[in-house]
Amino acid sequence: MPKRENIVILTGAGISADSGVSTFRDPDGVWAKYDYNEVATPEGFARNPALVHSFYNARRAGLTDVQPNAAHRALAALEERLGDALTLVTQNVDNLHERGGSKRVIHMHGELSKARCGACGVARAWERDLSVETRCPDCGADRFMRPDVVWFGEMPMFMDEIAVAIDAADLFVSIGTSGNVYPAAGFVGEARSRGVPCMELNLEPSENAWAFTDARYGRASEIVPAWVDAIMSS
Ligand code: APR
Repeated sequence: MPKRENIVILTGAGISADSGVSTFRDPDGVWAKYDYNEVATPEGFARNPALVHSFYNARRAGLTDVQPNAAHRALAALEERLGDALTLVTQNVDNLHERGGSKRVIHMHGELSKARCGACGVARAWERDLSVETRCPDCGADRFMRPDVVWFGEMPMFMDEIAVAIDAADLFVSIGTSGNVYPAAGFVGEARSRGVPCMELNLEPSENAWAFTDARYGRASEIVPAWVDAIMSS
């Protein structure tokens, strides 16, 4: 395998599946149980903030019941080896990449373990429940505190940083994502338009499997460590 100088990795819910975290679009996924319009849109939050808070409070509390898996740890080992030559972008709002040892994680859909004030905009680490009574520690407003996650219809975070990384990449790797949600699902097209090899590591071919130049299918906790071993021995 040729030596790579700049690798961009995009992860999705599939990388956390083997840790026991539900994916979104699998038959038993989150969106089979909840209507995302009700719990993951600004309109849903305006209509029923208590429902949205209970949805995210349960997911935030659930973080303590799960552990990083071999795929998270393998990407942390790769970061250790490659340093700044690896850019890890995740759609996931869980903290399993960090708990698996990754130090630089770009959470383009935000983080469950952060809360943001809709009045003053300040975001901060947040482990406990949120409610409409929660006051912003910075500006004192209540009713405006929300999970620091990106809802449908909102602009993902760090898009400029991600564009710069893809522009400099000589390998793009997508792990554990169905390729359903843009702009993340469009990153492979941006890389391909620059002639960059693109690899998909997933349980099964994603919606945009056709866009990749290479693929390995299987459980992330098995195929990601194997791929990292191959990269590190090349
Ligand atoms: N190993 C590898 N891949 C897996 C595993 C596993 N053990 N289990 C499931 N997968 C794959 C599924 O086949 C699917 O292609 O992970 C993918 C998960 O897809 P989604 O559930 O759509 O999750 P994701 O792609 O991360 O969703 C993107 O949509 O709802 C929004 O904001 C949410 O960040 C999320 C975004």
